[in-house]
Amino acid sequence: MLRAVLPLLCLHLVGARLMKAISYGPVPLKAAGRIPQDDWMVEAAKPMWGPRGRDDLHVMKQLGANTVRLYGNNPNQSHEGFLDEAHRQELKVVAGMSDFRYIQMDPGRCIETDYDCFNQSRDSYALNLKTGFLTEYQEYHPALAYFILINEPDLKMPSTSTTVAGGPEQMARAVVSAFDGLLEAEKMANITGDLINITATFSYAVCIVCEELSYLPALGQMATLVDAMMNPESYGYEPRNNVTEAFWSRWTHSFNTNNPARDLKAQFFDRYPEHFPSTPVFVAEYHSVILQYLTPVVTLQEDLAEVIDMANTSDLFLGISFFQYQVAYWKGGTEMDFGIFGLGNFLIAEMPYYGHTYDIWCLEPQVSHNTPGSTMPQVLTEAYDGPGLEYEYLCQPSPNVVPLSQDGFAAIAAQGAGRLGVFARRVVEHLGGMVVSTTELEAFAAQYVTDSGRTFAEMVSAIAQKPPWTSFSAQAACVSDRAADAGQVGAAIAWLCGHTPGFSCDVPDDCSQDAFSTGDWLFSRWYLRNGHDPLQDCSFGGAAIFASPDTPAGRAAAACAVVVPRRLEVMV
Ligand SMILES: *[C@@H]1O[C@H](CO)[C@@H](O)[C@H](O)[C@H]1NC(C)=O
Ligand SMILES: *[C@@H]1O[C@H](CO)[C@@H](O)[C@H](O)[C@H]1NC(C)=O
Ligand SMILES: *[C@@H]1O[C@H](CO)[C@@H](O)[C@H](O)[C@H]1NC(C)=O
Ligand SMILES: *[C@@H]1O[C@H](CO)[C@@H](O)[C@H](O)[C@H]1NC(C)=O
Ligand SMILES: *[C@@H]1O[C@H](CO)[C@@H](O)[C@H](O)[C@H]1NC(C)=O
Ligand SMILES: *[C@@H]1O[C@H](CO)[C@@H](O)[C@H](O)[C@H]1NC(C)=O
Repeated sequence: MLRAVLPLLCLHLVGARLMKAISYGPVPLKAAGRIPQDDWMVEAAKPMWGPRGRDDLHVMKQLGANTVRLYGNNPNQSHEGFLDEAHRQELKVVAGMSDFRYIQMDPGRCIETDYDCFNQSRDSYALNLKTGFLTEYQEYHPALAYFILINEPDLKMPSTSTTVAGGPEQMARAVVSAFDGLLEAEKMANITGDLINITATFSYAVCIVCEELSYLPALGQMATLVDAMMNPESYGYEPRNNVTEAFWSRWTHSFNTNNPARDLKAQFFDRYPEHFPSTPVFVAEYHSVILQYLTPVVTLQEDLAEVIDMANTSDLFLGISFFQYQVAYWKGGTEMDFGIFGLGNFLIAEMPYYGHTYDIWCLEPQVSHNTPGSTMPQVLTEAYDGPGLEYEYLCQPSPNVVPLSQDGFAAIAAQGAGRLGVFARRVVEHLGGMVVSTTELEAFAAQYVTDSGRTFAEMVSAIAQKPPWTSFSAQAACVSDRAADAGQVGAAIAWLCGHTPGFSCDVPDDCSQDAFSTGDWLFSRWYLRNGHDPLQDCSFGGAAIFASPDTPAGRAAAACAVVVPRRLEVMV
């Protein structure tokens, strides 16, 4: 047994070094328009990335990605749930600082403080460290891999950074001071454990006014930045922290490009090692949409294979982030060519987000213009060596989302045994149990597909008999469902506390830090007094689950929940 497992393990380790990321900016609009924020790492966006929604992080995992790269970041909001879910999906996260404090914040934006971004970066990052980037032990969240201080500073700090004399110095001052601000925020937070690497992502512009490498895309900007990291004073900046030392231990270069692999080799990677022999680099946006116009023509498949091979055979080139997860309808025009998925017509969820409610539509694979007969997700799955997606179900009811009711059951029973197994597992876990044999779960589910004529009530009764492929705990409790989003849990708490005379909604401080632990305290106590049937009485509109202490939800809730020491009763 062990001998069969070992070679696989080694392969996995080799593969893990390669970054296979997807750029994630899923603006939920099907037409040109504007949105109030663009932070998709927040809890409010969970209907898109979470398991009770469109499950985007899981979709990325199925495509073979091992990393997700983000843009917007509102540091007032918690990013803990997103990082936890990414970790659960074994995805690393490349988060970024938003442009807000560099460009928009008024007053005090960095373009108005002479490109000294120390205060802005320190304040923003200090908030990030308080809202999810760190664990309770003051260590970085295990899912966080890199932090992008700024995206394309060479196009906006100032916009003439690469074309007008003095521009490269201002751009470098902005990045070095922002790096210094980040180090200051880390110091204030008393971080322990391993630190993450930091980067600034350049565009693929040629910096004609850079002193070095002024004829090669992105490299001139990198050379300028390294010089500024070595000699910040000559760029008009006096650092508070040793940025030079931090650069040598933690800097990774990165750039965005829409050029094909064959260009990158000659224009960038053949020259990179001689200039930056000890600093790794990744491509933070990769996707050429003009391959069909090249001579000779290259397919996207061939282009991706080529770029991945370049990364796989290089010590310094870490990998790519494919641009991008979803079509940018809101931008329109040629920007729409980049999406892996478009938006279909099946409504998955409604998402309240910064004062508006957005429809979350299902994903629709985009055709790959230059790989005949293939869609983009298929091409990417092949390049990233992913297990693949069940495309036929992207725009169908999901066993992870439908209600645990006859209606939900009927929708999934029509999709066959495999999908119904996922649904049945949810039922087991909602009754305080766990599945101990997936094979037997599937055999069980097969007896309930539509043709069987059986009902949800019959399935539940059979599960309540505690068949041998399940294991039930006597210590289960009605707790917050971690797959729900905090807004949903908060609404359920508000409802419970507003509609239950005589029920105390006093929650001790330790359990009122967030909606989930508050829910653990309240749902479990309400259920202890009033609950009989987990399916009926421990749902709270999908916010709660009657969880075994051996499941992740049960473990997470242990500190605040009270258990129900009684036998399982089910009424349907
Ligand atoms: C964060 O909150 C502060 C204070 O409440 C506010 O001034 C600031 O504009 C907020 N930042 C963002 C990016 O929403
Ligand atoms: C940064 O904030 C400090 C006060 O904390 C202030 O004295 C200083 O002028 C600010 N620097 C810039 C460049 O805005
Ligand atoms: C960091 O440590 C210092 C000194 O021990 C302490 O004063 C400060 O409150 C700590 N900060 C945080 C965020 O824990
Ligand atoms: C920063 O660290 C480097 C390398 O450890 C060291 O050589 C240099 O003197 C330090 N600079 C300052 C200003 O302390
Ligand atoms: C972090 O940066 C250091 C210094 O450039 C580099 O040696 C190391 O390989 C980087 N680690 C990652 C994971 O990029
Ligand atoms: C990377 O190279 C190794 C060793 O040559 C090979 O086994 C592996 O399949 C390659 N991975 C990819 C993603 O091409």
